[in-house]
Amino acid sequence: MPGGSVVIAGPNCDALARKVSRKMGASFSRLVTKNFPDGELYVRIKADVKGKRVVIVSSMHPSPNLALLTTVFAVHTAKRLGAKKVIVVSPYLAFMRQDKEFHKGECISAHVMARLLDAADAVYAIDPHLHRIKDLQDIFSSKGRRLSANDVLAKYIRTHHPKSIIIGPDEESYQWAEMIAQKVDRHAVMLRKKRYTSYSVRIKLKEDVDFKGRNVVIVDDIISTGHTMVEPIRQLKRRGVKHITCVCIHGVFAEGALKMLRGLGAKVVSTNTIPNPVSKIDVSSVISETLT
Ligand code: R5P
Repeated sequence: MPGGSVVIAGPNCDALARKVSRKMGASFSRLVTKNFPDGELYVRIKADVKGKRVVIVSSMHPSPNLALLTTVFAVHTAKRLGAKKVIVVSPYLAFMRQDKEFHKGECISAHVMARLLDAADAVYAIDPHLHRIKDLQDIFSSKGRRLSANDVLAKYIRTHHPKSIIIGPDEESYQWAEMIAQKVDRHAVMLRKKRYTSYSVRIKLKEDVDFKGRNVVIVDDIISTGHTMVEPIRQLKRRGVKHITCVCIHGVFAEGALKMLRGLGAKVVSTNTIPNPVSKIDVSSVISETLT
């Protein structure tokens, strides 16, 4: 693009942003952040962004509230410094699951988050949790666009789990589990989930599938507390399954979830939308190919 592009790494996004900048042939810079003595957020862009397209890569974990505010500050700063265009790429876009008023008086966080990020010219997110909200375009006035990691996940499954049964743990996982299964010429076994609280879910495993001696891959967009995975893992083990791998796009792994799942004997793999010890599947090409 005339004027060139600068990729700026937001909090916790260094490695991924650097890979993206290399693949795009763009320059790379790191956002400078700290807290003032009173706790207020300080943000600084050191790169020369005047007349350039600025890509702010900002994944909203492990501190989603701070990451959102940091991103908003960075967008406004880039604009004030004369950037030609400011694009936010949020590999993991938080707040999307609070997409309605479940209990009277609750904030619909997804809408407020979108209002705040609307200061950017465009917001791209990798597999945002779209459920009741069907498209990012429905909540962003600026250009909101969903990028998908399904191709890289399918490649991983084709290579490492050529014969495994693919399972989607709930109806919402259809857009990942079944779509990925189709890419590797299989169909996913879709389960039904009832969530009572963040920590309590009930899932029923299908009676008509023979899991004995088989390898299975459970595919979901997010592993947060891990409880969506725990129920199928326990039931699959009772049904004589040989090996279980939990694959997700966004490895949030709240409150020791990774340790818990491994403790149950499952292997866990995620993409690098959020850096973590099992973020082995690289999504940098998903971002760079969209921006090049
Ligand atoms: C919700 O339906 C999502 O697709 C995931 O299933 C959910 O966010 C996983 O959360 P947890 O790991 O806390 O069960």
